[in-house]
Amino acid sequence: MISTQIQTAAYLFAGILFILSLGGLSSQESAKRGVYYGIVGMFIAIVSTVLGKDVNGHIYIVIAIAIASVIGVLVARKVQMTAMPQLVAILHSFVGLAAVLVGFGSYLDPHTLSLPDTERTIHLVEVFIGVFIGAITFTGSIVAWGKLDGKIRSKPLLYPGRHIVNITLVIISIVLGVLFTMAPGTDGMIYLYIMTAIALFIGVMLVMAIGGADMPVVVSMLNSYSGWAAAAAGFMLGNDLLIITGALVGSSGAILSIIMCEAMNRSFLSVIFGGFGDAPVATSGDIEGEVTSTTHEEVAEMLKEAENIMIVPGYGMAVAKAQYPIHDLVDILQKEGKKVTFGIHPVAGRLPGHMNVLLAEANVSYDIVLEMDEVNEFMDDVDVVMVIGANDIVNPGALTDASSPIYGMPVIEVWRAHKVIVMKRSMATGYAGVQNPLFYKDNTDMLYGDAKDSVNKILADIIK
Ligand code: TAP
Repeated sequence: MISTQIQTAAYLFAGILFILSLGGLSSQESAKRGVYYGIVGMFIAIVSTVLGKDVNGHIYIVIAIAIASVIGVLVARKVQMTAMPQLVAILHSFVGLAAVLVGFGSYLDPHTLSLPDTERTIHLVEVFIGVFIGAITFTGSIVAWGKLDGKIRSKPLLYPGRHIVNITLVIISIVLGVLFTMAPGTDGMIYLYIMTAIALFIGVMLVMAIGGADMPVVVSMLNSYSGWAAAAAGFMLGNDLLIITGALVGSSGAILSIIMCEAMNRSFLSVIFGGFGDAPVATSGDIEGEVTSTTHEEVAEMLKEAENIMIVPGYGMAVAKAQYPIHDLVDILQKEGKKVTFGIHPVAGRLPGHMNVLLAEANVSYDIVLEMDEVNEFMDDVDVVMVIGANDIVNPGALTDASSPIYGMPVIEVWRAHKVIVMKRSMATGYAGVQNPLFYKDNTDMLYGDAKDSVNKILADIIK
């Protein structure tokens, strides 16, 4: 058992570690340190909470933590990098569910009943808002998981008047909230039940209305919602650390969403209200030009002659786990005195920073991994661009085809380079399901096959 003072000091320390953790995660060099800060902070937070006064049944808590830790380790070990966004989405749903359960528990807690009037009203508002945000986060995250995992079709489910329906449901929830706070004892339970059902429905409808190409922003928005749900749970439980942590997650998730909205040229407000993916239906249109393909021998020759080479990786690199041979290829090219850079699109892959994590895993040096804006500046000087398993993020249609669902999204303008090699298995579309005019351009050649196989073959040809 520890005193309240020691617990408060431990919470403060853990809070500082969480802030340092977020700070560390902002750059690749310090990301590992950031993760360690987070682990230590969370350890201190859990231990000081479990040892706090008024906490009973330690044995059950320890057993629950042990079981959950084993499950956590097994899942984290098993999950493929490509399935990471789904895992993140489903973890958000747990936070939402926890906030709902804490809300119900807190409402039924005899301590709540004995609070003086004003305090009780404030507490009931906390409970109501906490359950509302938690329930939306819970079902929204489950739908996001389903869409990312391909279990629910990614096409947006749009019906006329859905914004009016959503606004009406929010107004009904506010009225229920007023009735809830005025109800004596636990009589307000019925209002809490009805609001929970409404919020669960809103969560489903908000995310169902969002199109596949816009899912990245949804994942980070749900991350933000889960933070606010945790902060609300902190208010209900009177737990300062949960409030701090929730606010950190909530605000950093919101900032990330704004950055991603800018990267995809979407309006932030329309994201919050859902259904912003109601862009026109994908049209392939008549794409001019012919698709030409090449061989790994030819690509190896091209690379031998090039001075300035750029690699633009996408989701296919993650699927193929091609980052390791890519690292070896870059090594050899650099030893031959060539300039090699990586161009990273903010939504390449399936989660924020996906490509950066994979390249760091393969020990690719950070200083050659550049962002979209940087590489677009010197694209005209690049001799060969190798697009490895990327599609939507290099689609020129995003800049020119107003009927495309990704219209307005800034892309890496690889077609401005002298030569473009696109390495993928077929002519299949990417995540957004749109045709890519890049493949038909005169200076583009397709190199069909699994990205890892292709890079390995090019590598073998170069060192021959
Ligand atoms: P995509 O547009 O999805 O294209 C990936 C391409 O990789 C596919 O066209 C596929 O073509 C190819 N591919 C798959 N497996 C491969 C393999 N083993 N070897 C070689 N190629 C392979 O990916 P992108 O360009 O990275 O764009 C990301 C898309 O995902 C955007 O639309 C973005 O909005 C969305 N999204 C992003 C996120 C985040 S946060 N980054 C989250 C959710 C959704 P083949 O089948 O022909 O090989």
